[in-house]
Amino acid sequence: MSLEEYYPTDSEKEILETYHKDLYDLFCHDTDHFNLIEFGAGDGLKTKILLRHFLEEHGNFRYLPIDISKEALAILCNDLKSEMPDCIVEPLHNDYFAALHDLAEKDYFTRNVILFLGSNIGNFTMEEAVSFLSAIHDNAKKGDILFIGFDLKKNPRKILNAYDDARGITRKFNMNLLERINRELGANFNIDKFSHYPTYDPVTGETKSYIISDVEQEVQITSLGMNVKFEQAEPIYVEVSQKFDMKMIKMLASESGFNYITSFYDSENNFVDSVWEVL
Ligand SMILES: C[S@@+](CC[C@H](N)C(=O)[O-])C[C@H]1O[C@@H](n2cnc3c(N)ncnc32)[C@H](O)[C@@H]1O
Repeated sequence: MSLEEYYPTDSEKEILETYHKDLYDLFCHDTDHFNLIEFGAGDGLKTKILLRHFLEEHGNFRYLPIDISKEALAILCNDLKSEMPDCIVEPLHNDYFAALHDLAEKDYFTRNVILFLGSNIGNFTMEEAVSFLSAIHDNAKKGDILFIGFDLKKNPRKILNAYDDARGITRKFNMNLLERINRELGANFNIDKFSHYPTYDPVTGETKSYIISDVEQEVQITSLGMNVKFEQAEPIYVEVSQKFDMKMIKMLASESGFNYITSFYDSENNFVDSVWEVL
């Protein structure tokens, strides 16, 4: 995420730095306190921008980071304790699908502002995205807000470079999947016989990453008692990262039951953070 080619991080940071006051006013509209609930908080690098400004505004809010990684949550909470001791933090170590149900039971009189940053929604297919967002909507109450980041369609080369950096870090990141299978499931993938292959389709907006078997080969996965044969050039589909336009974003809001309110862009129109509410 800190790679020079991986523009979404800086673009979203810029949005949060530029519009924190507008966001605070939107989140506080008609109320003087709110819960800031973050799905997949990670290191909270960008969220800290909002937290810092909201504390300066003497905002009356609690921060509830949700993450499936216990380690990520522990690091985030420690950081916040030393960097922002006044911030009320209530971490939730859970899968966000499971956390959705807790949401419905959180105190009924406080507005929930749900953050889903970093265009994480792009890792779902469009169909999965609608069902995930509908589940958020159906577990939320009137007046709750979803603040959600989307990486926008743009020059295809710029997008492709973000998944194919010059230093080969994204390659290592994807190959790490095979290394983990070797380490944790006793497999014998020879990493040198596989290639990293990212693609971007400007029509659908899908960035897809594949690992390609360079030769015909067979891999043993001992713990699973499994032998896997690969043809020469056979692809392993690793991930999708969907890119969006405003038509798609407004369609997602309406198909999942939300009322689209507004969106905030960075200065290069790389990225958008969109505000939706439950009517
Ligand atoms: C790419 S990081 C993004 C972090 C942060 N939201 C940002 O935009 O910089 C995704 C985070 O989501 C967490 N995560 C992924 N799948 C999850 C799930 N199903 N439930 C909860 N957290 C999840 C990961 O552990 C990771 O910390």
